Amino acid sequence: MDAFFAANRATWDERVAIHLKDETGMYRMTDFRAGIDTLFPVEAAEIGDVAGRRLVHLQCHFGKDTLCLARRGAVATGLDFSPAAIAAARSLAAEVGVPARFVQGNVYDAPDLVGRSAYDIAYVTWGAINWLPDIRRWARVVAETLVPGGRLYLAEAHPTILAFDEIAGVIRPGYDYVTPADRPIAEDIDTTYTGAPDRLRSTRTYEWVHPLSAILTGLAEAGLRLTFFHEHELLPWRLFPMMVAGAAADQFVLPRDMPRLPLAFSLGAVKEGG
Ligand SMILES: C[S@@+](CC[C@H](N)C(=O)[O-])C[C@H]1O[C@@H](n2cnc3c(N)ncnc32)[C@H](O)[C@@H]1O
Repeated sequence: MDAFFAANRATWDERVAIHLKDETGMYRMTDFRAGIDTLFPVEAAEIGDVAGRRLVHLQCHFGKDTLCLARRGAVATGLDFSPAAIAAARSLAAEVGVPARFVQGNVYDAPDLVGRSAYDIAYVTWGAINWLPDIRRWARVVAETLVPGGRLYLAEAHPTILAFDEIAGVIRPGYDYVTPADRPIAEDIDTTYTGAPDRLRSTRTYEWVHPLSAILTGLAEAGLRLTFFHEHELLPWRLFPMMVAGAAADQFVLPRDMPRLPLAFSLGAVKEGG
């Protein structure tokens, strides 16, 4: 398992500088630096009041969303296993003058690294759980970080659409709907998803598709009670080349003549015992 994490960390380390440069504008760094909240419309509408709440952002990348949440008043901690991401997050926080704590380490070690029963909100979004082999263990980790009555907010690509691929302009089943922990989807990709032209040296990625049954059962087993579950027909990145711009500049949807398919889901869950 360590070899999978090491390869993934190497590619994420390299992507940080490319994403920060933001040549394609996907990360809206100019807006962010101007003080504009750059959370995507889905989580901006659903996250609710975070002011004064202790919030842990798991897999925070270079901390932009963590800092948006801190600007909304959260007492924010971000965790990511990429040293480059954490270094960038700390300097971005200093640059924009927003206080937040950033911790480097594997999400599976989060309770030891950021604290147990220490947070009112755990925040996990867009392209996080696909890097993790064991979703039930992840759910237990999330629950451990929360105080009783604390809540998880999760927004992710929908596992239904992750089982598909665009081949010759047609969306067809391309992957199993569940990925075994010891047999991840291995791919070699020499560019990042923002569309930037930079070539990566660390091309190998290992990813896992987790079905909704595993995610929801994992949360229930960890003592996290579902408070809402939403499905969305949009994603904040172009998963397939055929996708077109949605209502907002940073949303992508399937072409209108296609059957409607769920592209994303979001959920809230509360740790029992509050
Ligand atoms: C697509 S990004 C998440 C983006 C996030 N929505 C944000 O706020 O920008 C995925 C992140 O997960 C991190 N990551 C992947 N596997 C991890 C692991 N096992 N433990 C901690 N971080 C991990 C990567 O370093 C990367 O920063």
